[in-house]
Amino acid sequence: MTGPRLTNTDPALRRGWHPAAMAVDVGEHPLSVELLGEHWVLVRLPVGGPISAFVDACPHRGAPLSAGTIDGDSLRCPYHGWCFEASGGCTEIPSMGVGAAIPPKAKARVPYAVEERHGIVWIAPEEPVAPLLEVPEEHEPGFMVADLPPVRARVGAGLMLDNFLDQAHFAFIHAATIGTPEAEVVHDLDIERHGFSMTVRSEHPFPNREDPAVATGERPLIQTRRLTYEYRAPFAISLRIDYVEAGGTNILAFAVQPERDDSCVVYTRILRNDLDGDPHRLAEAVSFEQKVIDEDVRLQERYRDRSLPLDITEEVHVKADRMTVELRRILADLVAVEPG
Ligand code: FES
Ligand SMILES: [Fe+2]
Repeated sequence: MTGPRLTNTDPALRRGWHPAAMAVDVGEHPLSVELLGEHWVLVRLPVGGPISAFVDACPHRGAPLSAGTIDGDSLRCPYHGWCFEASGGCTEIPSMGVGAAIPPKAKARVPYAVEERHGIVWIAPEEPVAPLLEVPEEHEPGFMVADLPPVRARVGAGLMLDNFLDQAHFAFIHAATIGTPEAEVVHDLDIERHGFSMTVRSEHPFPNREDPAVATGERPLIQTRRLTYEYRAPFAISLRIDYVEAGGTNILAFAVQPERDDSCVVYTRILRNDLDGDPHRLAEAVSFEQKVIDEDVRLQERYRDRSLPLDITEEVHVKADRMTVELRRILADLVAVEPG
């Protein structure tokens, strides 16, 4: 007998904020996206305006609204021309003539909420259990911001988050990038859970080979890195890395869009305040981070079962896994919430 496992299309995931597209990709035409095994259409009403989301099926005869056109403040269905405003309400049925009463059921299905934040369009199909991830440094002077091209992968969203919160794999999966032998032992973690969110703090020694003050003897090679994770269920997280001796802060904001059971899209934003405003160094940081994510995805894609076990007794855990055990507890609690 095996316990519950979280798949990418678990209905409980409807009660969360999910990335659905890069905001820049929602332009003058409707954009079709997939989330939790369901098709949605994203559209700016009017052109250039705020983003609305609809289930990508017209309430009339089910035509894909993503094949429609923007008409002022409405999205016009390609089939019989019905128009829907941001709230989903139908504003026009051409076949009935001007002034005819609109049937109350003529409503396009809309999510509980849609929002543009961190360069991403987020959808909460139902009332979310946790707030949207905040990255306050985005608005702080001195930080450079860059987005990685989103990565579509055949991975489980739960496993991908598990991987992001996991510190014990660096020396192995990332031996060619961020892994150092010093990273093998995972140091103490301070985990604070608030509802369906958690904050985790830790500190560890590492060899700062990039610090020019090491060569001059001004600072020691072995320095301290302070890590702060902010997790928001189900699949969004930021990691802030503060370099205690050398100064400087790196932030990685990371979110996963569960498209369907065998597909996800991984969104990553980098924030750095230690690059002297140099766009070349920022581009280098982006391509380095791309390599790191590729290393993770390559292993995740080899999992035969892409679901995440939610029964804590099913796997073997050690002290270094406390963060990923807490992730399982939070997601198990999300699955246990009665539908509203
Ligand atoms: S199917 Fe959309 S208007 Fe008829
Ligand atoms: Fe990793």
